[in-house]
Amino acid sequence: MAMMAITTKSSMRVNADRTKLAQRLTERGTNVGVIKKNYLSHAHHAETWTAFKPETWQFVEIKTQRVASAPHPHRPTLAIGMDKQGGNPLLALRLSRYCRSLILKADSQSELTAKIRWSRHGALTEAVLLSLSSALGRLGEPWLALEHEGQFALIPGGLGGANGNDTAHCGSRSRIAAYLPALPLENLGDPDFRRDHGLRFAYVAGAMANGIASVELVEAMARAGMLGFFGSAGLELERIESAIDRLTTGLAGLPFGFNLIHSPNEPDREAATVDLYLRRGIRLVEAAAYLRLTLPVVRYRVTGIARDPAGRVVTPNRIVAKVSRLEVATHFASPPPEELLNELVHSRAITAEQALLAAQIPMAQDITAEADSAGHTDNRPLVTLLPTLLALRGRLQAKFTFDQTLRVGAAGGLSTPSALAAAFTMGAAYVVTGSVNQACVESGSCDAVRRLLAQAEQADTAMAPAADMFEMGVKVQVLKRGTMFAMRAAKLYELYRTHSSLEGLAAADRAVLEKQFFRASLEAAWQSTRAYFQERDPREVERAERDPKHKMALVFRSYLGLSSRWANAGDPTRVLDYQVWCGPAMGAFNEWARGTGLEQPENRHAAHVALSLLHGAAVQLRAQALRTQGVPWPGGLARCPVLSVEDMKKLLQNDE
Ligand SMILES: Cc1cc2nc3c(=O)[nH]c(=O)nc-3n(C[C@H](O)[C@H](O)[C@H](O)COP(=O)(O)O)c2cc1C
Repeated sequence: MAMMAITTKSSMRVNADRTKLAQRLTERGTNVGVIKKNYLSHAHHAETWTAFKPETWQFVEIKTQRVASAPHPHRPTLAIGMDKQGGNPLLALRLSRYCRSLILKADSQSELTAKIRWSRHGALTEAVLLSLSSALGRLGEPWLALEHEGQFALIPGGLGGANGNDTAHCGSRSRIAAYLPALPLENLGDPDFRRDHGLRFAYVAGAMANGIASVELVEAMARAGMLGFFGSAGLELERIESAIDRLTTGLAGLPFGFNLIHSPNEPDREAATVDLYLRRGIRLVEAAAYLRLTLPVVRYRVTGIARDPAGRVVTPNRIVAKVSRLEVATHFASPPPEELLNELVHSRAITAEQALLAAQIPMAQDITAEADSAGHTDNRPLVTLLPTLLALRGRLQAKFTFDQTLRVGAAGGLSTPSALAAAFTMGAAYVVTGSVNQACVESGSCDAVRRLLAQAEQADTAMAPAADMFEMGVKVQVLKRGTMFAMRAAKLYELYRTHSSLEGLAAADRAVLEKQFFRASLEAAWQSTRAYFQERDPREVERAERDPKHKMALVFRSYLGLSSRWANAGDPTRVLDYQVWCGPAMGAFNEWARGTGLEQPENRHAAHVALSLLHGAAVQLRAQALRTQGVPWPGGLARCPVLSVEDMKKLLQNDE
């Protein structure tokens, strides 16, 4: 839509050149022009305006009962009216009474304007729905919804200097029913979160183990003004360090972070990962899977804590803590525990002064409320978890009065515009996605898995025993469709629960495991498991040789571990054993992407997916804003279109 300004020297000339103006408007593809007849009239009530309708080559009279009530010489004046013949809404804007210029606001997309009309009752046609979502999707433009005798029309335009209350009374039979200001994508989420992390958009791609959240994914996010966390879990330290090398050199100055996963079975690994991050200057981690705070995570947070010249407590290392339980959130949203700080002072990791300063900061300024998600999950609904953690945030912020004000983000099930819109509306400072990113070309997974993910529907996930906390009965959410992993892993856990050793298994069960699961004898499976742990943690081997139940656990866990590797590597002989972490978000995304450019997995690029989701969320929010101002949407809300690649490029080129 173009705002068309036609300036003339005097009102006389306007009247004389009216036809010429009309022709010029038509030539420029402008369908409706509005010319104020009584140009210098002092009567600001019941004015008469003249509009030109090129379809009929006629001028039509429009009546407004009131313009802005207190026109100021230099303040814009808005007039709105209905074309009495066609019922079309028309809008005119005059910038200044005394500048002797006539400003015409003409709708160059009058096709669109003409289509965007609907009545209070009666369903919206597909064409109107499409036009509506396209109009609402022009996020940089304000819109007005006009009502005239139960008929609604959406027209481009803002309120300018006229205030909404004044214009709302214009015309006895027509009124401005709703006003939609521009809604740049940058406005979604908490501006402090964006500023503190150097982001343009409050959108985060969560870590995905084994490098599934790859360097390519993290780079794609950073270059699009978003944040990605590298998936360090399950990787050897050398691989994590080579990711650090690449991201620190390739993304100099752009934001990125690494995952710090709690490993109850391998506490030394957690400590070694923190050593690596501190040594290599990694300043931001996504801490996840914690049940309580550990020494390494506290050490990461408080290392380097100091006062700046202004006397404020500053911390070089920041944590985004992903939690699904209130008690864990409480630990992260509070200062580090005294006993762990004392231990750090004792080991000279920090000084006593630093321990005192640490009492003034939260362990994590950003807490992600992770609802029903891929992988480790408590399967909580976001609509209950997020408000609970927001309330906790309020209580703890009031209690500790942190300078680093606590913020809460949302994760789990976020894969559609409506879901993102809901999360932002509920107060999420930022959104975190996972499942949808694994299905993108940048992920460290393989094409075979991406194809499986692209077919997933809402109910195609299942909970299955987790490799890392197998003995504790902890489960992870995985893809069910196209693989038998969930069933096979459940069988292993059942056998583990009801038997005390591999030797005690029934012959039939042993035969199934050897033929289908391990494709080797259980003795051979133990030998390769033993060799693996001998290298990684020999204490596990010693324990297994003393405890047959533990030996059984290690063998079964080896199948669970290998099943993830087969999936990532795309081993064609092991498709039925693929372990693919996936939440219901995947099915919801596929449903939204159906029939669009994002339907095919080879077209799914993480930044395009992210921007389409954010853009769609903004459209949803504008649609809801219409509804909450009393403008009805018979037949439901418009489906949010996927952002075209061209529009996405334009959006990324236009910095804030
Ligand atoms: C394949 C996969 C692996 C994941 N691995 C990790 C991980 O190692 N560490 C972590 O903090 N979160 C991990 N997650 C969780 C994501 O970071 C994110 O929080 C979650 O997927 C969001 O929920 P959603 O899947 O419903 O979008 C993983 C998710 C997926 C899909």
